[in-house]
Amino acid sequence: MKKIAIMTTGGDCSGLNTVIHRVVTGALQRGWKVIGIEDGTDGLCSNPPNVISFNYDTFPIEQARLAGSFLHNGRADAMNFETAAEKGKIASFNKRLKESIQALKLDALVLIGGNGSLSLAWCNRDIYSNICLVCIPKTIDMDIPLTDRTIGFNTAVQQLTSFCDQLMLTARSHHRWFVVQTMGRDCGQLALNAGIAIGARAIIIPEIKFDINDLVKHIKTSPLDYGIILVSEGVSIRGHSGKPADIISRKLTASGITNRTAFPEHTQRVGDTTATDRILATQMANCALHAIENNETYVMTAIQDCECKTVTLKEFFESGNIVSDPNIPDVMTSDAYVSPDDPLLKVATDMNIYLGKLK
Ligand code: F6P
Repeated sequence: MKKIAIMTTGGDCSGLNTVIHRVVTGALQRGWKVIGIEDGTDGLCSNPPNVISFNYDTFPIEQARLAGSFLHNGRADAMNFETAAEKGKIASFNKRLKESIQALKLDALVLIGGNGSLSLAWCNRDIYSNICLVCIPKTIDMDIPLTDRTIGFNTAVQQLTSFCDQLMLTARSHHRWFVVQTMGRDCGQLALNAGIAIGARAIIIPEIKFDINDLVKHIKTSPLDYGIILVSEGVSIRGHSGKPADIISRKLTASGITNRTAFPEHTQRVGDTTATDRILATQMANCALHAIENNETYVMTAIQDCECKTVTLKEFFESGNIVSDPNIPDVMTSDAYVSPDDPLLKVATDMNIYLGKLK
C-alpha cells in the first residue's frame, strides 16, 4: 500500500480545496494512505512534521468549492526556502525537510504550488530523491511556463470581472473613470483577461510599454465619459515610484479627467471556485495520481493543447524566464509572461482597447 502526502505552498487561490479533495479521494479509492502536511514547508520541517491523516470524512466534498486551503499555506514569517536562504541556513533547512520525508515513510508527495514553489522544488531536488515528487501548478498570476492553464486563474478572472462590473455602475452615475490595479506580479494575464471580459477602455500590463500621454488621449477621445482602466501591479512607470494605479490616476486628474482608483487586492484570490477551475483541479489531481502509479518523479501536471499530461520540472524550470529574487539572489524562479502573439492582444486592439506600444 502506498503512502502519499499532499501540501499547498505559496500564495493561496481558489481551487486548492478542490484539488486537495480530488487527490485525497482518488488516493483512498486506490487503497493508499494519504496525509496532509499543514502550513507547507514550515509544517514539513517541524519536529515532528505537522500532518493530518485523511479519510473520506476528513474534508467534506461540499467544502471543496471554497477558496483558501484546508491545509493552510504557511505563515508569512515562517521557515521556508526564502527565509532559510536569507539567513544562510538553506543546507540545514534542506536536511531537515529530507529527514521529515524519511520519518513520514512517504512514497510520494503531491506539491501544489506556484512558479516560486515549483522552481524551489527543482533547485532543492535532493530533498525528494527517495520519493516521487509530483507538482500541480496553481496561481492567479498564470505565470507558469509549459502549461496553458493554472488552477485559480479562472476564478480570479471571474472575481476581478465581478468587482469591475459593480464599479462600472457607479462610474456611469458620476461620469467618471476608475483606475483598477490588479494582482498578477510581473505577468499581465489576469489584467488582460478580465479587461477583455469587462470591456475596459485600457489595459496596461508589464509586458507592453505604454505612453501615459497616449493613454490620456485615448480616454479623452472615448465616446463615453466613464469606464475602467485596468493596470497590472507589475507595471513600472519611468521616473515615478509608487503604485501604478495611483500614478496613472494623478496624471488623468492633472489632464482634467475625473477618476478614482480601486484596489481589489486579495478578493482576487478568493471566491467560490468556478466550475472551470474545479474541472481543471480534478483533471490535474487525476493526472498526478496516475503519475504516482507510474512512478514518475520531478514532474508537473500541465495542460497542453487541451490535454492534461506531465512535463518534467527540469523542462518547466528551463523553459521560463529564470529570474533571481533581488533580495535573495540564490533563489531562482522560472516565470512566464503574456507572449507578443497572444491572440487576446489582437482582440483587444481590434476592440480599440488601449494596450500601449505593441510591436
Ligand atoms: O502570486 C500571487 C499573488 O496574489 C500576486 O498576484 C500578488 O502580487 C501576491 O501574491 C500578493 O502576495 P501577499 O499575499 O503576500 O500579499
